[in-house]
Amino acid sequence: MNTATAVSPADYADSPLSRALTQPLLLGLFLPIQNGGWSPSTLARTTDWSFDYNVALTQKAEELGFDLVFGLAQWIGKGGYGGALRYRETTIDPFVTVAALSAVTNRILLISTIHILYGPWHPLHLAKFAASLDHISQGRFGINVVTGYAPREPRMFGMTQIEHDERYARSTEFTNILKRLWEASENVSLEGEYWRLEDAYVSPKPRYGRPILVNATGSPAGFTYAARHSDLVFITSPAGAEIEATIAALPAHVAKLKGRAAEFGRDVRAIINPMIVCRPTEKEARDYHAAILSHADHEAVRNFITHHAVGDSQAWTNHKAEHRILGGNIQIIGSPEQVVDKIIGLKNAGIDGIQLTFFDFAPDLDFFGKAVLPLLKQAGLRN
Ligand SMILES: Cc1cc2nc3c(=O)[nH]c(=O)nc-3n(C[C@H](O)[C@H](O)[C@H](O)COP(=O)(O)O)c2cc1C
Repeated sequence: MNTATAVSPADYADSPLSRALTQPLLLGLFLPIQNGGWSPSTLARTTDWSFDYNVALTQKAEELGFDLVFGLAQWIGKGGYGGALRYRETTIDPFVTVAALSAVTNRILLISTIHILYGPWHPLHLAKFAASLDHISQGRFGINVVTGYAPREPRMFGMTQIEHDERYARSTEFTNILKRLWEASENVSLEGEYWRLEDAYVSPKPRYGRPILVNATGSPAGFTYAARHSDLVFITSPAGAEIEATIAALPAHVAKLKGRAAEFGRDVRAIINPMIVCRPTEKEARDYHAAILSHADHEAVRNFITHHAVGDSQAWTNHKAEHRILGGNIQIIGSPEQVVDKIIGLKNAGIDGIQLTFFDFAPDLDFFGKAVLPLLKQAGLRN
């Protein structure tokens, strides 16, 4: 059996993923389940890592018709990235969070990042847990497979960092085993290079073939993994966080990813994470951005930059220090009309979906719903 070409929930017309993919542009919310969100700035805001705050955001996003919410995973020591904020010291786990969110939502897709090589997980654990959550959420659960780029994270698990491309080789075997377990109608025994199974079986089977598979990457090895396995791929901007440079650089980058998927006879959707600072006028948006920057938590910013510098991610190499204060993979700052104009630019550059972050999540999501979403509909990007 060639598990690389196995089914996707996108092949089932009635799956939650297929429903979401009828949208011209997927719309997601990146949940702030970590303190400080994406912005090491001490300017006052409501953003909060607590479960209750994230439930309210998720329910609001669902009410606004968003397609998905998504949580990041990180393993970090006491004090986080430091500074006055103790930036990101406190995070609730995304897997546990989206499992709980499934019980208080009905329609929205729930994606959790998981470092599948830490521990290490056994594929049987994740096959079972994910099939369970697939049923609890009625097919809305997805795994964002990441391999970990920061050397200190595997050390927390008593491991040393595995070489970059070797991580994707292991992740490929892991994912093939997941697919085997989700598909198999008999017990599975196998001797892989990294994992062994004897008479292993998972029931219930996922409702739509398998849970949604996602990964976040910018490297050739990561693109090959995504091309073989993922439904959605979170890409970063190869040109750094500036929106104009991003729009110019993305067509070639996305074409590389989609070309790779086509080699496997597959289609993948490219998603990117804009940080949105939107106010009724451009001046108000720029003033707010300036206020965020003037409250930079400098020690946290420095430590966050160092964290990326000592890691081996190939996706974030062109991001400048100044962009780490507001954060996000790319930044869109302006009036509702200007924000929509840039989102149209992303769509025209080949992007299939946007996964939003905000500085002050609750009021900013509210404003986005009132002022930007109607314009996205007018522009034909949302049904
Ligand atoms: C939207 C998005 C979400 C991400 N979430 C996580 C995360 O939760 N945990 C993590 O360790 N890395 C996360 N990453 C970072 C990727 O894992 C990182 O880029 C990784 O090193 C990919 O490696 P590569 O680009 O070298 O293949 C994310 C990246 C993006 C674009």
